[in-house]
Amino acid sequence: MESGKTPPWLALRRLVNGYQVTQAVHVAVKLGIGDLLADGPRTSDDLAAATGAHPDALYRLLRALAGVGVFREEAERRFGLTELGSGLRSDAPESLVGWAAFVGEPYQRQAWGALEHSVRTGENAFRYVHGTDSWTYRARHPELSAGFDRAMADLSRQVAGAVLAAYDFGRFGTIIDVGGGNGAFLAAILAKHPATCGVLFDQPHVVAGAPPLLAAAGVADRCAVAEGSFFEAVPAGGDAYLLKAILHDWEDEQCVEILRVCRRAMAEGAALLIVEREPGPPNAAPDGKFSDLNMLVGPGGRERTHGEYAALFAAAGFRYVGIAPSEVGTGVVEGVAA
Ligand SMILES: C[S@@+](CC[C@H](N)C(=O)[O-])C[C@H]1O[C@@H](n2cnc3c(N)ncnc32)[C@H](O)[C@@H]1O
Repeated sequence: MESGKTPPWLALRRLVNGYQVTQAVHVAVKLGIGDLLADGPRTSDDLAAATGAHPDALYRLLRALAGVGVFREEAERRFGLTELGSGLRSDAPESLVGWAAFVGEPYQRQAWGALEHSVRTGENAFRYVHGTDSWTYRARHPELSAGFDRAMADLSRQVAGAVLAAYDFGRFGTIIDVGGGNGAFLAAILAKHPATCGVLFDQPHVVAGAPPLLAAAGVADRCAVAEGSFFEAVPAGGDAYLLKAILHDWEDEQCVEILRVCRRAMAEGAALLIVEREPGPPNAAPDGKFSDLNMLVGPGGRERTHGEYAALFAAAGFRYVGIAPSEVGTGVVEGVAA
């Protein structure tokens, strides 16, 4: 622990060096260190033997991460998990293992390496670096696609409690989760509301990973799985169409296309539920604002205010109803098929 106030130059230097923390946590997660420390502290040599890592290099990694509070270093190179670091266990309720693995993946870091290109041109960095969009790229790399789906499931589990407390999804008989990934968020809804049924819809290689997750959540018997592209058609017959973290991946023109495809499948009066995070007020929490940059760099979309969602609704045949904000910054923007 440091004593006294951190001088501004040092606080700034730590911010500037943030990518080093990202990469160090990424490596710790890839080695499974969080799970190896689940039963208590172990020496770095012991952890090196368990992971096949270089003993001295692993010690230096763990020591650095203890410096930022992820691990606690004890005598004789022994390390334990702190409360902060316990999120690096894969069995933690709000585990960040999947997300930490994803953000440090070289292909994702390479896209962020072209942020300057995005800021100078307004163009999507991922496409600039990899020559294709992030969805096509991951479809060609199944292990990266599965890693991305795990990352999304982490984020869903972290916000599900607060979002489900803020909005009553139990008033719908059938919810179609459009672009629902491997089903983590829909599973949380169905687990909370036993009278509700779901249809999970996403790209074929993505929904292929859903059955074990739905079974583990005990909701498989109330959740159908459908595959396709939301630029072509989505399943009909839902009382509510849920799009969580979908529209933020796309620019306005594509958002209107996706919403029109949904509208075609919906009966008049069916609900449209957009679950997204707003950028937030000036100078306040960085999460929504950096998520917005992540959209510029990665899929090529943006975070929006609920007023901006309302404008998209109007362009696609929906009436804006309102927003249910949650305490974690992710809210439900509700519309109705007009
Ligand atoms: C940011 S993820 C959000 C996943 C999930 N809704 C969640 O919140 O965890 C975006 C999802 O859109 C899906 N997606 C992208 N393009 C698609 C398309 N053309 N048709 C259907 N799903 C698509 C991706 O496979 C991915 O699961």
